[in-house]
Amino acid sequence: MRNNLILIASADRNWGLGKDNKLLKRIPEDLKRFSDLTRGNVIIVGRKTLESFKDKKPLPDRINIVLTRDKGYRCEDAIIVHSIDELFHEIEKFDKKVFVCGGETIYKQLLSYCELALITQIDEEYEADTYLVNLEENRQWKKTVAEEWQESSAGVRFRYVEYIKAEHNK
Ligand SMILES: NC(=O)c1ccc[n+]([C@@H]2O[C@H](COP(=O)([O-])OP(=O)(O)OC[C@H]3O[C@@H](n4cnc5c(N)ncnc54)[C@H](OP(=O)(O)O)[C@@H]3O)[C@@H](O)[C@H]2O)c1
Repeated sequence: MRNNLILIASADRNWGLGKDNKLLKRIPEDLKRFSDLTRGNVIIVGRKTLESFKDKKPLPDRINIVLTRDKGYRCEDAIIVHSIDELFHEIEKFDKKVFVCGGETIYKQLLSYCELALITQIDEEYEADTYLVNLEENRQWKKTVAEEWQESSAGVRFRYVEYIKAEHNK
């Protein structure tokens, strides 16, 4: 199994991810960065996150792998897998970066296979119904980068933070 997956997420001060199957806040600068980083690579999403995308369609110009337990689920231009084992079988085929793109259930199940977490911290507290693991309180993860806070055109403060999994804890 690969253990060099890259987790990418935006989270508020409470590590909230989303509410009612939507992002807590759409930050245009962050969405562009997400697009730039993931384009040409592999992204992994849960079925609910896929359905939160525009027109419920996979993101263009990258390989979208979608997890669902529904054997009848169909989605054009995405690879559908039905278990974590099947997922790993599929990603072995690609010599590309693999980004874990949520939501909560997918981050939880794949955290132990990630070596890097790219987090966009939003300096707000929203009402949320899905959460990321608090990496600050997780001894396996160490913060290595914290960029300056920025003001988004969407009217919130945000910054990019990176965590790596401590080598001896892998
Ligand atoms: N802030 C961020 O960066 C970010 C990123 C992504 C998503 N989000 C937010 O997160 C929320 C969605 O997260 P969520 O946790 O509710 O849903 P999710 O993780 O996107 O999708 C959950 C679904 O994935 C499938 N699944 C999960 N584990 C599986 C496994 N081991 N094998 C096969 N299928 C599996 C199941 O689909 P079936 O029910 O079809 O079986 C499950 O219902 C939304 O609000 C979204 O906007 C935020």
